[in-house]
Amino acid sequence: MKIAIGSDHAGYAMKEGLKKFLANRSIEVVDCGPDTDAKPAEYVPIAKAVAEKAAGAEADGGILICGTGMGMSIAANKVPGVRAGLCNELFTAKYAKSDVNINVLCMGSRVISQRLAEEITTLWLDTPFTGGRFIPRLQQLSELEAETRDGR
Ligand code: RB5
Repeated sequence: MKIAIGSDHAGYAMKEGLKKFLANRSIEVVDCGPDTDAKPAEYVPIAKAVAEKAAGAEADGGILICGTGMGMSIAANKVPGVRAGLCNELFTAKYAKSDVNINVLCMGSRVISQRLAEEITTLWLDTPFTGGRFIPRLQQLSELEAETRDGR
């Protein structure tokens, strides 16, 4: 499994911790930056880089960290094929995967601890998508995306 990961300056330390956590699970990590928190890193271009990989063939999913997770989730959801979810607690993480099959997990480094971020990540990785009645809803999301593309 390959996971693309990125953050802004606020999420940098949590990203670095999650990289080690994922490596310990033998998950390949593609780091989309930044490589320091010594200067501001804008969340939009990092979200785009991770989201494009997660929606395409370059990764099986993506993880994005900013202070709240909010900017990252909004930006990632503008990339076609992405279902990004802001999960700062376990209940949401479980159902975001089982019911919505999110392919990009967003978390807030100023909201939750590193330990909780790792537990949320584990739940997201290990919870299977339920499928069944949830499939038509994902299809509707794809249709909405197609309808609203190009500013329509
Ligand atoms: C950065 O200060 C902060 O605005 C950002 O990390 C994030 O919380 C935005 O949603």
